[in-house]
Amino acid sequence: MKTPTPDKQAFKAAVRSHWNAAARGWNAHSPEIRAWLRASTDAMIAMAGVAPGARVLDVAAGAGDQTRDLAERVGPSGSVLATDLSPAIMALAQARAQRGGFGWVECRVADGEDLQVEAASFDAAVCRLGLMLFPDPLQGLRQMHRALRPGGGVCSVVFSGPQRNPCIAILMATALRHAGLPPRDPFAPGGLFSLGRPGHLDALFLEAGFRDIATTAVDAVFRLPSVDDYIAFVRSSASPVLQVLDGLGEARAAAAWADIETQLRVFDTPTGWEGPNELLITAARRR
Ligand SMILES: C[S@@+](CC[C@H](N)C(=O)[O-])C[C@H]1O[C@@H](n2cnc3c(N)ncnc32)[C@H](O)[C@@H]1O
Repeated sequence: MKTPTPDKQAFKAAVRSHWNAAARGWNAHSPEIRAWLRASTDAMIAMAGVAPGARVLDVAAGAGDQTRDLAERVGPSGSVLATDLSPAIMALAQARAQRGGFGWVECRVADGEDLQVEAASFDAAVCRLGLMLFPDPLQGLRQMHRALRPGGGVCSVVFSGPQRNPCIAILMATALRHAGLPPRDPFAPGGLFSLGRPGHLDALFLEAGFRDIATTAVDAVFRLPSVDDYIAFVRSSASPVLQVLDGLGEARAAAAWADIETQLRVFDTPTGWEGPNELLITAARRR
């Protein structure tokens, strides 16, 4: 197994700490996230070939929202192993599975780049909005490939690029400007758009050993009552903008948030707020 470089370890320690801090907020927004990602989650589960009785691996499972869908799909004759880097968010996923009576769900703290699961022991693997946060997504895909039985299906969901996800782009550009920092490469490893370049993810799936690779871009409009609800969601998540704005002091951070809110009001509609997003759903099969 590949040994992480010190940089990767430091990066992941920071990611773990941010998601430990954001776990409650992400969990509290589960109903909104669930509605936002409904169509892409259904597509992901279908494209991974998750069937009743299947053994499914859920990587970067977060608070376990899609784990619940997987558990319902496989039923008690199947099993779901939900894994995540953050112990705090895994505890919430475990509690959710218990509340749902899903005794066939196990939650385990694990780095997606080093899963420590038995080889060829799963029929399907999914990763919803997690893979782009890995400093080495190829290693994450290799781990899923190794975990799958030959012929097993995989499906990941990630953000496409900044142009098709203008809310996230506005958030980061505005935060950096208020912090007096230069623009960042949106496609840098570990960032929200890191796998958004056309063709990049397919190439990684191929390099990891998968076949029958297909990526579909889907619109995922985030519909909320108002822009304030979106900002509340962002502020209680592990959004990278928080790391930029948190060090600014109260007054400057407040000015940045006010600027962000003004710009995001462009997505106000007569019935609420509709933030455009585009996701890439990539499905493949183990050789
Ligand atoms: C945007 S959340 C998505 C959670 C969940 N899949 C969902 O869609 O609601 C990203 C998750 O990826 C996890 N994560 C980030 N890097 C990871 C890694 N290297 N290994 C495992 N999980 C990781 C975070 O802890 C967080 O729970």
